[in-house]
Parts: sequence; structure tokens; C-alpha cells
Amino acid sequence: MKAVVLVGGFGSRLRPLTIDVPKQMIPVVGVTMLERVLRHLRSHGVEEAVLALGYLPDVFQEAFPSGESMGVKLRYSVESEPLDTAGAVRLAVDTAQIDSTFLVVNGDILSSFDLSSLVRFHKKSKGMATIALTPVDDPSRFGVVVSDKHGRVHSFVEKPALDSAPTNLINAGAYVFEPEALTVAQVGVPISMERLVFPELAKRRELFALEMPGYWIDAGTPASLLKVSLDILKGNIKGSDLSGLQSAGEGLDGSVSVDPLVSVKGSYVGRDCVFEGIVDVRNSVLEEGVTICSQATVRDSVVLPGAVVGEGALIDCSIVGHGAIVPPGSIVVNGSVVSRYAELTPGCQVVGERIPS
Ligand code: GTP
Repeated sequence: MKAVVLVGGFGSRLRPLTIDVPKQMIPVVGVTMLERVLRHLRSHGVEEAVLALGYLPDVFQEAFPSGESMGVKLRYSVESEPLDTAGAVRLAVDTAQIDSTFLVVNGDILSSFDLSSLVRFHKKSKGMATIALTPVDDPSRFGVVVSDKHGRVHSFVEKPALDSAPTNLINAGAYVFEPEALTVAQVGVPISMERLVFPELAKRRELFALEMPGYWIDAGTPASLLKVSLDILKGNIKGSDLSGLQSAGEGLDGSVSVDPLVSVKGSYVGRDCVFEGIVDVRNSVLEEGVTICSQATVRDSVVLPGAVVGEGALIDCSIVGHGAIVPPGSIVVNGSVVSRYAELTPGCQVVGERIPS
């Protein structure tokens, strides 16, 4: 089976981490978000994926010179201007000449969904498209999808008030399509799946939806990127492809064998990390080539490749970007995000901020 992976968005909610790298190429505990998505697709029988590229397409193409990742053959569909979700899928279908039932997934959604059962349901219902649904506690921030007991979609309600929401089931960003479903979208024109294609298919009674049990997260914000990383560390994602996919980790539970002065607990430590003296690292992800200097503390945080945490610095519940330098005595706490290659001023206090903002 083929799949289209939507990876062309600007990732503005994750800025400044996405200023020069697409969000799907950010590592999530040892491997990129995209590799986790591809591995999940492979485990459900996908052999070829078309990456629908828009923002910084070269970064993807250069990362996979063999044209393959996680056992999935890659093809590229490159937009010269953003075509929005449906426009992007339409172009990908044309580019890769997809002519049978296929999957579409948002490249920033990490889930443990049984995509095989979604495909089986789609084939049984004989619709043009099927949307995976996931329940949320507060649907008022989302568009909810209303369907009948057979799964046929009736309507979409955008951001319903909590007390009057007809359902708490939202579009989970994973779909099964027949190629003809996209003929409602013009080639080369920006078109939204949610605002045009789905309402049109629902009107024709050709759109279905299925609630999927399991882990689901939109990893497109700093808070959710941090959450999914820590969920993987804690093994909170039961029965999912998300766990157990670390490329170079020396330990997830304090098993790192380094100098006895180094205390590393419940953390992932990537290849070539350096601990300079007494450090305290807990429940955190240190990606490849991170340096933690003497007396530094890192708690419930993600430190991306090549970053340096200076002497006596404190990182708590925050993300330090690729190659960033946190100087001695600095404090980065409360959901802060330090951008790629940022250099903070020595002794600074970053509390719940994005640097640069
Ligand atoms: P924000 O800017 O933070 O809202 O993120 P985004 O636009 O990158 O992602 P959003 O969650 O809005 O989009 C869902 C998925 O569709 C993501 O995987 C995006 O990369 C992708 N996407 C959004 N717009 C486009 C587009 O115009 N073309 C392509 N190819 N993909 C898109």
C-alpha cells in the first residue's frame, strides 16, 4: 500500500525550533518525528510513501539520499507554493500516480493507531474516504466530526462550546482515501481538506469516520513535543511503535555507565554525549553530541543534538535547540524553548519564554 505523508507546513507553532528545519526532521528520542511516522506506516503494510513537501524541501531530500527510510521507499512531491492539505495530497497522487486505496497521515501526528483496521473499515464501508477520529477532553479548541452508528459522516462543527459539543471526537490527521476522492480538488490550487474536500464528500454521503483507540498526539507545539518525548521515556505509550525506537541510547532508566559522579536517571542519552564532572540529569532526553558541564542540572527536558549546557546551568521542563549554548549559571525553565544555535548571555534567566521570541 502507498501513503502520502504531509510534511510541508511551516511549523509556526514550534518556532523558533523550525526556523531552518521542518518540524518533522526534529529528533524525538533518538530518531526524527518523520522516521517514527514512517516506521508506524511500515508496520501497517506501507511500502512506499510520498512526502508532500513545501517548506524547506531540501532538508528532507538530503536526509534520505538512498530514497528509503525505515524500510519504506520514499518519493517526493514538491509544492512551489503551499497547496494546503488537500491540494498537497492531490499533487502527491498525481506525482506518484497513485491509482488504488491509499493512506494519508499528517507528519506531525504520532499515534499508536491500528491503521490496518482503519483500512479494513474503509474497504467495508465502500466510501471515498475515511477519517480516523480520536477523543479529546476539551473539543472546543478543535473541529469535531459528527457521524452515525455506521460511521457515515454527517457534519463538522468547528470549535464547539464545551457544554454544547455534539461529540468529543476530532479529526486525528490520519485518513484512507480512494484516488477519485481527490477529484473534487483542482490540481495546483491551495485547497483545505477540512473546509472543502471533506464537507463535499459528506454531502455526497461518501465520507466515513472511525474512532481509533490508542495513543495520539499532535507533536506540533513545544509543550506536546516535550510531552511525547517524556511519554516515550516513561514507557507511557503502551503497545505502540513509538517506544523502543532509539538509535543510540545507552539507557532509558539510569543504566548509563559513565563516571560515578554523573547521575543520569530515567533519561535517554544519545551517541557521543559528554558529561564534564558532576551533573544531574533526570527524566530527560539528551540527543546526540550534547555536552553537559560540571554542576549542571537537566530535568524533564529535551536537549537537541550538539547543544551545550554550561557549568551550573539549570534546564527544567524546557527544550534546548540544536547546537544552542546555555552559558554557565543560566536558568532555562517553565516550558522555555531556546532556538537552534542560540547563544544565551551568561547567567540569564529564561522563564517560560521562546528565545529568540
Ligand atoms: P503550524 O504552522 O504550527 O500550524 O503547523 P503546520 O502548518 O506545519 O501544520 P498543521 O498542523 O497546520 O498541518 C498538518 C500537517 O499538514 C502537518 O504535517 C503539516 O506539515 C502539513 N501541511 C500543512 N499545510 C501544508 C501544505 O500547504 N502543504 C503540505 N505539503 N503540507 C502541509
